[in-house]
Amino acid sequence: MKLFDVYPLIPIEPVKAEGSNLWDAQGNQYLDLYGGHAVISIGHTHPYYVQKITDQLNKIGFYSNSVIISLQQELADKLGVLSGHPDYQLFLCNSGAEANENALKLASFHNGKKKVIAFKKGFHGRTSLAVAATDNPSIVAPVNETPNIIFLPWNDELALESAFNLHGHEISSVIIEGIQGVGGIHEASVSMLQKIRALCDQYNALYIADSVQCGYGRSGHFYAHDYAGVFADIYTMAKGMGNGFPIGAISIAPHIQPKHGLLGTTFGGNHLACAAAIAVLDVIKQENLMEHAKTIGNYVIEKVKAIPGVREVRGRGLMIGVELEIPCGDVRNALLKEYRMFTGSASDKYTIRLLPALNVKKEDADAFIEALGKTVASMKVQN
Ligand SMILES: Cc1ncc(COP(=O)(O)O)c(C=O)c1O
Repeated sequence: MKLFDVYPLIPIEPVKAEGSNLWDAQGNQYLDLYGGHAVISIGHTHPYYVQKITDQLNKIGFYSNSVIISLQQELADKLGVLSGHPDYQLFLCNSGAEANENALKLASFHNGKKKVIAFKKGFHGRTSLAVAATDNPSIVAPVNETPNIIFLPWNDELALESAFNLHGHEISSVIIEGIQGVGGIHEASVSMLQKIRALCDQYNALYIADSVQCGYGRSGHFYAHDYAGVFADIYTMAKGMGNGFPIGAISIAPHIQPKHGLLGTTFGGNHLACAAAIAVLDVIKQENLMEHAKTIGNYVIEKVKAIPGVREVRGRGLMIGVELEIPCGDVRNALLKEYRMFTGSASDKYTIRLLPALNVKKEDADAFIEALGKTVASMKVQN
């Protein structure tokens, strides 16, 4: 049996990892500034995390949601406090797409309405409604197409107002990333998020904050959306939540009522996933990683801005987009081949995405800044 070939592969196989480093079978060491797509939040193979999962596996790894799993409540308590929303309710699932799918569905159950506002360049996952709300027709199959999604331009408050004026009685929810990831690191403006909050209140719609990539402390705040000082009705999360162990969740405002059977999953909230997610929260708290992400992120942003050939640097904390004056493909290849550094791409071919672990070291940031400067300078000479 061969693998269904849907991923273009980097010709490197990491066989060992620690902190922000990866090693291949030949013993070559790489610096991971991509975090396996924003997933590695507390660093690879963090000893506390490994211990917690190992201990749990030796006790019980899985049972379904038909029994009491008190680890779920421990996770909910810790997540509530660290995220600044202790009064919200937690529903656990397995991935980012699934989190968004449940959020959109829950909103529709809650207000009985059908339409969803989403934004240009947004990415919300590859399953049915999540992919329909994603602005990329090439990954939307005919069966996913629906007239229920209204796409609006990014940060366009007037367009938002007129969409609510026209369809307000039909709009169930507005889904938005706090910082667009796949779209190339674009931050939602404070006034846009405040406008979404106000219009959702006015029209009985729900504000869904897709925090799958920008959440879990990556921006220096637990949820990047909360910089706006207004809160979402539902926050969706995954990626950094399990540091590589598959887990997703939605955090639901207290005014939204649960009912038995409303949502469900076989694997979501299992013992091992909860142990992983609890370990991640413990480490973020104990090692003060949100503050660290903010400090190192600001440092990288300022230093990279000063590199000739860099057109713009966007983002917050350790979710950074470096837009070059030249397409970034060759620069990323050179960083990988010559400096052994993993970076991320975006849908815009000029932007390098940096999504390192929240405890990436300053010396690693410095090594990247130097390598980027040299690489961009050498490409400019060649051009
Ligand atoms: C903002 C955002 N939402 C949702 C998803 C989908 O997450 P998953 O791949 O875990 O389904 C992603 C994945 O990249 C994402 O960046």
